[in-house]
Amino acid sequence: MTLAPEYAEWIRARIQNVPVMTRSFCGDLTGLEVLDLGCGDMMMDIGLLSLNPAHITGVDVRVRDFSVVEHAAREVSNAGYALPDNYKTCLSYQTYDGSSLPFEDDRFDFVFSWGVFEHISNPRAVLAEARRVVNPSGRIFIVVWPWFHSFHGSHLVKYISEPYFHLHRPDDWVWEQLNEYLESHPEQAEEHLGFWRPEGYTLRSFLREEMWPEYQSLNRYPAPVFTGCVRSRADLRKDRNQHRGSSSGRNGASGMLCRPDYRWDHRSFPPW
Ligand SMILES: C[S@@+](CC[C@H](N)C(=O)[O-])C[C@H]1O[C@@H](n2cnc3c(N)ncnc32)[C@H](O)[C@@H]1O
Repeated sequence: MTLAPEYAEWIRARIQNVPVMTRSFCGDLTGLEVLDLGCGDMMMDIGLLSLNPAHITGVDVRVRDFSVVEHAAREVSNAGYALPDNYKTCLSYQTYDGSSLPFEDDRFDFVFSWGVFEHISNPRAVLAEARRVVNPSGRIFIVVWPWFHSFHGSHLVKYISEPYFHLHRPDDWVWEQLNEYLESHPEQAEEHLGFWRPEGYTLRSFLREEMWPEYQSLNRYPAPVFTGCVRSRADLRKDRNQHRGSSSGRNGASGMLCRPDYRWDHRSFPPW
């Protein structure tokens, strides 16, 4: 089976680049219980097994009527990559309601979340939950890309070329542009679908039923507001206690660690 080049690159980046970047910030994950918050297709998790975690639990709001782990394994294998022997026992997928993680306190050593917090309607509450389920010596690693106010922030730049249209164009203009794209690119119908194929999407239904609602639901947080939420340990503790209906706090996950020396290669898209 030949994969569309764009989709093949999507898989390669997940299998090869994400573990390298994760290790560069966090080191190996040897023996750790990992939560992938907003795990999506879980292809990244197959890649992350190369960092030797004990187990990765993927959690997402999306209910699937197929095995996400098996599907990820099939896609990765079809793309020509060897599967780690332990993927069946070391990966699992769970859904939740998008605000209350279905895990006991301190359950994980490492919470990983990649490209998710720009989609979450109440980031502060979910951050508090991430903190609740990570044990006191654990870590939370969050990659957010792209923020709404950035060049790629609409998540629609593949379909609408006007720079920064999302910052000033009304929704009906955006909707019209998506429809114009569909009319003028009939030949690209299946190329973009990748993970969405098994759900029976065409490009038309994908744009209308996935990308359009996604565009409307992006939380539009500016990066400084989000990093303020992360830095504000007191607020996170307060949210956590409200969530649990208790007044006790605790010292837990550390504050934010930035790698000021880290540089994206801005020429490549996506940037990992
Ligand atoms: C852009 S995808 C990223 C998926 C995956 N992390 C990756 O990079 O391949 C965003 C994911 O966030 C999930 N999501 C949206 N709201 C969420 C929430 N409140 N909690 C957890 N996941 C959520 C979506 O269902 C989707 O799978």
